[in-house]
Amino acid sequence: MPFNTLLTEDRGAVRLITVNRPDKLNALNRETLTELHAAFAAAAGEASVRAVVLTGAGPKAFVAGADIAEMNGLTPVQARDFSRHGQALMTRIERLGKPVIAMLNGFALGGGLELAMACHLRLAADSAKVGQPEINLGLIPGFGGTQRLLRLAGRAATLELCLLGAPIGAERALQLGIVNRVVPAAELEATTFALAEQLARAAPQALRGILDAVLLGGEAGIDTGLDYETQGFALAFSTEDMKEGTGAFLAKRTPNFTGR
Ligand code: COA
Repeated sequence: MPFNTLLTEDRGAVRLITVNRPDKLNALNRETLTELHAAFAAAAGEASVRAVVLTGAGPKAFVAGADIAEMNGLTPVQARDFSRHGQALMTRIERLGKPVIAMLNGFALGGGLELAMACHLRLAADSAKVGQPEINLGLIPGFGGTQRLLRLAGRAATLELCLLGAPIGAERALQLGIVNRVVPAAELEATTFALAEQLARAAPQALRGILDAVLLGGEAGIDTGLDYETQGFALAFSTEDMKEGTGAFLAKRTPNFTGR
């Protein structure tokens, strides 16, 4: 599928989606949001895609935020729609049903951090910087940042990042639980793809059960959350992959999960 603002590439069962506006540090304008919606919908619908890696083009930025030039001209009604469009994208990614890794190759600011937080794992180059600097523009986060950062890193860190607006380095983001791993910039791609390939080899229905139990169940009360877990656990018993995984363990061999 051709896009104006994205590049997509399949490496085996891993789909790489790259936001491709490096001259604007990959800022998210409405076209980019719309294309990301379409790219993730396509990834969700293709069984051959078993994991997704999301990154930004160029050496400097993952995504440096929502497009400030575009926001400058929005009316309040358009701003509401822009926020809803962005939030819907983040929810689509979070609920994709397949694992998505954000590969943070540089600045992940504002909408860029919000995009990264909608992904299931975040790997950061040691040179990456993350933050919610909207306050410096007289704004607040609008693509879910106040809510996802709160859930990832707690109230103290969320208020610090959003109220003060200062970006933090990758190591501090790791301490706060905002990113999963920090690696030397030169090793970021290899490390990310090694993890993505591991996820692409795992049993898809079991991955989905975990995502649903944690992401959907985690937003409900404990009883509903436990119910999500039981449903996912039971559903796994309907798959050939579950027989393969348990059988391979007992036969002392490596399992081959096919998604059936
Ligand atoms: N929206 C629109 N354009 C952006 C952008 C954004 N969020 N972030 C960067 N750009 C553009 C710049 O305007 C510049 O365009 P130009 O060359 O046409 O002038 C280009 O990307 C390069 O950015 P520049 O600021 O020159 O790079 P830098 O290395 O000096 O600074 C940052 C990098 C990330 C510190 C700086 O670009 C920045 O603060 N960006 C905005 C971050 C932000 O507030 N994000 C939240 C938005 S809600």
